[in-house]
Amino acid sequence: MTKYLLISFTLFFFISCGGEASIENSEVDGVVNEKYAAGKEVYDKTCVVCHMADGNGLEGTFPPLAKSDYLLKDPKRALKQVLEGSAEEMSVNGVIYNGIMPAQELTDEEAVNVVNYILNAWGNDGGEVSIKDL
Ligand code: HEC
Repeated sequence: MTKYLLISFTLFFFISCGGEASIENSEVDGVVNEKYAAGKEVYDKTCVVCHMADGNGLEGTFPPLAKSDYLLKDPKRALKQVLEGSAEEMSVNGVIYNGIMPAQELTDEEAVNVVNYILNAWGNDGGEVSIKDL
């Protein structure tokens, strides 16, 4: 009997710890998703097919946006790439990409919104761009 109690306490302990960690993460994501709701909407409709829901892309083909050194180094460049497309060799987090991202059919405002979303989603801390940066 004591043995069973001990097992269920241990299980309870593990489950509650795991649960807390994921609530913490989704709280952070939730705040970002709410603040940048307009940008997230564009992302989920337009970018997610290549850059994936977790922003990690597909190594060697679609570069990551989550923790991307290339993106975070020059956020204004991202705005230009979204509106005009990109077809050049680039190194993102140490991996070389030389693909083609077609110009996305978005208004200037949608482009600003989506770039502000990717600059802050998935734990990114990339600040913001504005329509003046175009
Ligand atoms: C059809 C697939 C596709 C779609 C859709 C797409 N991208 Fe890309 N994206 C790429 C590829 C491929 C590259 C690398 C381009 C190159 O090598 O010049 C890239 C590069 C980038 C980069 C710079 C590299 C990096 O990872 O930091 C950013 C920023 C970016 N995309 C943002 C977006 C955003 C925002 C959207 C939606 C508005 C979007 N992309 C939609 C395929 C796509």
